Amino acid sequence: MLIRSPIVCVLGHVDHGKTSILDSIRGSRVAAKEAGGITQMIGASYITKKDIEALAADLEGKLSFNLKIPGLLFIDTPGHEAFTNMRDRGGSIADIAILVVDIAQGFQPQTVESLKILKQYKTPFVVAANKIDLITGWKEQGTRSFLNSISKQPPHVVQRFEEKIYSLMGKLSEYGFDCERFDRVSDFRKQVAIIPVSAKTKEGLSELLMLIAGLSQKFLENKLEINENGAGKGSIIEVKEEKGLGPVIDVILYDGVFKKGDEVVFLTVNGVKTTKIRGIFVPNIKGGKEKYEQLDLIAAAAGVRLLAPGVEEAIAGSPIETVGAQKDEIKKFENLYKEMLFTKSDTGVVVKTDSLGSLEALMRLLKDAGIPVKSAGIGKITKKDVLEAQVVASENRYLGAVLGFNVYAMEDAQQEAQNKKIPIIISDIIYKTLENYQEWVASAKEESKKSAWAKLPWPAEVIILPGCCFRMCKPAIFGVKVLRGSLKSGVRLMNKNGDVVGELREMQHEKKKIEKAERGSEIALSCDSLVLGKDAKENDILYTYMTKDELDAWSKNINELNSEERELLEEIRKIITKAVW
Ligand code: GTP
Ligand code: MG
Repeated sequence: MLIRSPIVCVLGHVDHGKTSILDSIRGSRVAAKEAGGITQMIGASYITKKDIEALAADLEGKLSFNLKIPGLLFIDTPGHEAFTNMRDRGGSIADIAILVVDIAQGFQPQTVESLKILKQYKTPFVVAANKIDLITGWKEQGTRSFLNSISKQPPHVVQRFEEKIYSLMGKLSEYGFDCERFDRVSDFRKQVAIIPVSAKTKEGLSELLMLIAGLSQKFLENKLEINENGAGKGSIIEVKEEKGLGPVIDVILYDGVFKKGDEVVFLTVNGVKTTKIRGIFVPNIKGGKEKYEQLDLIAAAAGVRLLAPGVEEAIAGSPIETVGAQKDEIKKFENLYKEMLFTKSDTGVVVKTDSLGSLEALMRLLKDAGIPVKSAGIGKITKKDVLEAQVVASENRYLGAVLGFNVYAMEDAQQEAQNKKIPIIISDIIYKTLENYQEWVASAKEESKKSAWAKLPWPAEVIILPGCCFRMCKPAIFGVKVLRGSLKSGVRLMNKNGDVVGELREMQHEKKKIEKAERGSEIALSCDSLVLGKDAKENDILYTYMTKDELDAWSKNINELNSEERELLEEIRKIITKAVW
């Protein structure tokens, strides 16, 4: 059994320094000429055991131990896609992670999202508290060791620095993580180590690398054992068209080997597909003109570009494996495909994301929140998605929405959505997509509730003013005063016994038509099917009549009424209930 290099994902909020940390690790490689040509193409960088040891030299023996791993494979994750990509079933390709936090800015939305992902996948991680050089008064000490540098900083700088670390610890504990500065950790299984670093001055890189290396070899050894000659297993990071080559995929190989001519299996939107590897490329780090070096074989762990016909259909985040003689892998992938893309309901929201990993993550979030999914896919939001949501909306308006993560909506889709009032909710933070959708539902419900109660007959009590009966019938026209509540046109009026005496057709105040008369106002009414002298007479009290459904609807919107109106509503309810019995 061979120990492969651990796969280290670097994640954190935008601009907190993920790429800079990797750049400065790369820049510190033994041979400076190698620095430029490193594996940027697949967003992965490989650091050999020798490089790690060279970087740890500044530790002067502290923290040092025997390195058994051949190196470290770092993956930079602009949008966490690589991180959320699956390995086999639902797991992530990261063995261990570095959460980068700008020490001045502290926790930001994507820091929180990263933490949630780490928790979900139970991935061990360390926190790199970056940009320590920006602490006021910090003096660069020309060492890559943090411990070395901090011992030379003046006391007030140390104090300022400690305050920042404490506030970071406080934040992490809010999210349920027990953590400590790395040199004060008593149990690495229980506590998350914080390593202060500066990508700019390189201080702290020695400790960061040694800890990552040490932790992975101590706690992940079983996971890192691979069969050097076994079937290749990897995860597709990106699918692209390479000029002069054709369609290629960038893959993180985490187990076994890929050989030229191997049959491999992967997932497409339309199902499982197999193809044969025609070319294996890695970045050329030996110098020379060529950007890539062609290989016949590559062993895990590695970032590699594969050329193979048909891979343009592959979905980012899909696993990829060599197909063995028994072809078991194909069966396995077929099951995986079924599980992934068909866990859908008859009704529900439409979901689009940029990769299989993020699709899975979002689907899981939606499932946990009890939100059904009608269809899910990878790629940009199209008009078809909006039309599908519209069909759903016709049955349940709150499920008629298109949810996206790290994707954009085509122009005709946006147009259609606008015309049909279908919300397209896109975010580049997975849980924000869910949150924004839930906010939309809440506000849409609020709105419809409002319009629902606005249509209800408002409770009112009026008295027919003496000497103001202008016309006896068809329609009857007479003056009233609103004693309590508000009178709205269109309501039916009843007397104290609950008998409906007529329907309010129109209201006038000082000869002007009005829709609503407030408490205290004196107005003229015209009423259909009411005969003055028979159905009602001067000084009679009349009330707004309501059906049982309307009374129930008011009970649910009781907060819209003031206390006098509530009392009145209760009286109206009593009159009606009594009349019915
Ligand atoms: P995204 O890839 O956009 O998510 O950002 P990132 O996390 O990769 O950040 P990046 O490495 O691009 O750094 C963002 C900015 O912070 C750049 O201007 C860096 O020069 C600066 N920066 C990164 N690390 C340090 C540091 O340790 N000290 C100082 N002073 N600046 C830093
Ligand atoms: Mg970056």
